[in-house]
Amino acid sequence: MASTAPIGVFDSGLGGISVVRQLAKDMPHERVLYFGDSANAPYGVKSPDQVQRLSFDIVERFVREGVKAVVIACNTATSAAVNELREAYDIPIIGMEPALKIACDRGDVPSDPHHIPQRVIVAATPLTLRERKFAKLMERFDSDNEIFKEPCPDLVEIVESGRLGDHDLVMRTLHGYFDQYDLDRIDSVVLGCTHFVFYRDYFRELLPERAAVIDGNEGTVRHLGVVLESLGGLAPEDATGSVELANSDPSERIAALSRELLAA
Ligand code: DGL
Repeated sequence: MASTAPIGVFDSGLGGISVVRQLAKDMPHERVLYFGDSANAPYGVKSPDQVQRLSFDIVERFVREGVKAVVIACNTATSAAVNELREAYDIPIIGMEPALKIACDRGDVPSDPHHIPQRVIVAATPLTLRERKFAKLMERFDSDNEIFKEPCPDLVEIVESGRLGDHDLVMRTLHGYFDQYDLDRIDSVVLGCTHFVFYRDYFRELLPERAAVIDGNEGTVRHLGVVLESLGGLAPEDATGSVELANSDPSERIAALSRELLAA
């Protein structure tokens, strides 16, 4: 693997830019090619077959561009396609899943020998929450914790349509999803969709202080670093990193929105 080759990062649209932000911060020597599939977003309400086909098209494009690894910066595409992609390509393919482990591990307090059961809401797309991959993840934690699955497809649409700054709309939408819970009794909310990471401040406004807001971006980037290092594929320390943003929607609106989210 050429360590100077770029890393391909993709998502159904603009959500994966939240992962690119983390990547650029933690691995500043890497060249990143980002592809957002906004023309086909959202993925979360499509069938697994459709999402798999779209994911293969994007990875094929990255391979033509000579990437050294691919990050699926999308929990939904990971659920639908990560195994098949890994079988088809021999470059590292890093996937994402809702960071449920981090949320449940908060119940392991060193001063207390017993696990304190955690009440966790996992906010993700309908497809992620329906797929077998998530069912298996839940199985590991739901005997010791109380886990609630909350599909939030409108949160994807709000980002894609550039309305993330509309405070009233966002808070109304969040209340629509979360008012059914007694939030004072919730220990954490897992942001199981990369679009939702952009809502962190809104979730803080919604939730009592004691509830944590957890996402998997940092862990994903850390995992990418470990994999590349083990293969001797980390960019040299004298290399200057860069981020190139591409999108299946060629409009200036999407290009401007992408730049704005990257800089946020
Ligand atoms: N950002 C994606 C995820 O992490 C999916 C959003 C969508 O297209 O539905 O799941």
